[in-house]
Amino acid sequence: MLETLDIKITKVKESRLPQVDFDNLPFGRVFTDHMLVADYVDGQWQNFEIVPYGDISVSPAISSLHYGQSFFEGLKAYKHADGKVSVFRPDKNAVRFNKSAERMCMPTLPEDVFVKSIAALVDVERDWIPTREGYSLYIRPYMFATDRFLGVTPSETYKFMILTCPVGAYFSKNLNVKVETEFSRACEGGYGYAKAAGNYGGSMYPAKKALEQGYDQLIWTDAKNHEFIEEMGAANIAFVINNKVITPSTRDTILNGVTRDSVLTLAKDFGYEVEERRVAVAEVLEAIQNGTCSDAFGAGTAATIAQIATITHEGKVYELPNPSESVFANKMRSTLDDLKCGRIEDTRGWNYI
Ligand code: COI
Repeated sequence: MLETLDIKITKVKESRLPQVDFDNLPFGRVFTDHMLVADYVDGQWQNFEIVPYGDISVSPAISSLHYGQSFFEGLKAYKHADGKVSVFRPDKNAVRFNKSAERMCMPTLPEDVFVKSIAALVDVERDWIPTREGYSLYIRPYMFATDRFLGVTPSETYKFMILTCPVGAYFSKNLNVKVETEFSRACEGGYGYAKAAGNYGGSMYPAKKALEQGYDQLIWTDAKNHEFIEEMGAANIAFVINNKVITPSTRDTILNGVTRDSVLTLAKDFGYEVEERRVAVAEVLEAIQNGTCSDAFGAGTAATIAQIATITHEGKVYELPNPSESVFANKMRSTLDDLKCGRIEDTRGWNYI
């Protein structure tokens, strides 16, 4: 399929790149010159095109607007010192893209078409990839239902699109987070593991309340008893306790994160024991109190490694050791950065050049 995927490219007459202020690059607000668009019609993906970035016209009755048949992915491209451009582990996102599609009753996309589409757009936008430390080109593939029909039934037509944004750090500081014990992000049998738009829409109200209370983010817990830790904001979460890397195991309610997987794999390379299992809130709080928890951090594509400074549970504040002195999280962040930018050998072939 890779050879045969035909993408029509229409380039902008004049790039907006010279107008971009790379000193002021809020996440997800600056878009590159082009975007990729494809249609699912008559049971087939077709009309793959790279076109100038801009508004699109859709019917006001499309079922993605009414019933949320929509999901996305997030990954990043990097520029190496020798000018090579790579995308980090797009094959993993391709697999997860199709898991989300299946759960949302939407058509899958052949994995090589997903990767090839990304590669084609990144190739057109290679001048937009920032080379500053900690910067990258964020890639947002997504799919949404386009049938004009108000019946609650899966659409027969869809759009697949990709946007790209030059970005810096998602979080500019270490985080003060709150353990959420009232609201839930996901439940057993639900679709928390999918990158469905509704998972993110539904998380905004609890997150807004947490912000109003002075927290940067919240830690999601299980919907039944709020006893076990699941994720942090829009990222996975991990801890280093007694020199072991501990993270909630993936399940219905937890996203199978690419950064999460990369962290666990590299942690083993570093010589750490890794445990993927249920992680009780009480266990983490006790470990912070008795000094055995050295690191707590969110792990995600946008967030990369987002270190936690304090965790508040039912009004009580638990302070982590100074994140800037943490051995594990800082080494993990710099190793991931070095790997993605080609400064250390990519022994696992994670960089798609
Ligand atoms: C990502 O890391 O790609 C995410 O999904 C977070 C995004 C919602 C900002």
